[in-house]
Amino acid sequence: MTDQPSGSPLMPGTPGGQPVTIRVGQAGAPAGAGSDAGVQSFYDQVGGRATFEKLVRAFYAGVSADPVLYPMYPEADLEGAIQRLTGFLEQYWGGPGTYSEERGHPRLRMRHLPFAVNPDARDRWLAHMRVAVDSLDLSPLHEATLWDYLERAAHAMVNTFD
Ligand code: HEM
Repeated sequence: MTDQPSGSPLMPGTPGGQPVTIRVGQAGAPAGAGSDAGVQSFYDQVGGRATFEKLVRAFYAGVSADPVLYPMYPEADLEGAIQRLTGFLEQYWGGPGTYSEERGHPRLRMRHLPFAVNPDARDRWLAHMRVAVDSLDLSPLHEATLWDYLERAAHAMVNTFD
């Protein structure tokens, strides 16, 4: 048994919800779509790296003030944690695969086992993520797609009820 069933919200490149692709007519082909003219990844649609970095930095601003979550994170390497989460999310949504080049297979459930992710930690994580997602001003469809994923992923990460 693997800890990463296919179709899981934790697998890169296989969002459980279908990735949103918008097909447009020739006249409206989006810039930068290359040979795949007319099809953009969710990553590109929401603004690429800058958007995911903004999301994660806003999220960590909340985590830094959270008495339960903050002690779990490596104090000396908060910037590293920011880069890891940003890299994972951008890869998941169709951006560059730098995360796996540097860290290997995500195996997120396994990587979270050292931390007590109970329902309280999950709800706090989601509350900070909610504020961060709201700060992006995405379209309602993009916002709902992203949020649905984050909620499911956070529920999948719970590893203790203590
Ligand atoms: C549910 C509550 C969660 C808690 C309390 C939590 C906590 C943590 C902590 C303490 C770390 C170590 C920080 C570091 O050194 O990078 C971490 C790493 C990470 N988390 Fe979470 N996390 C949660 C949910 C999630 C979710 C839902 C995702 C994905 C959508 C996620 C993605 C990651 C990633 C990508 C890393 C870095 C893994 C690595 O490459 O080492 N986490 N998390």
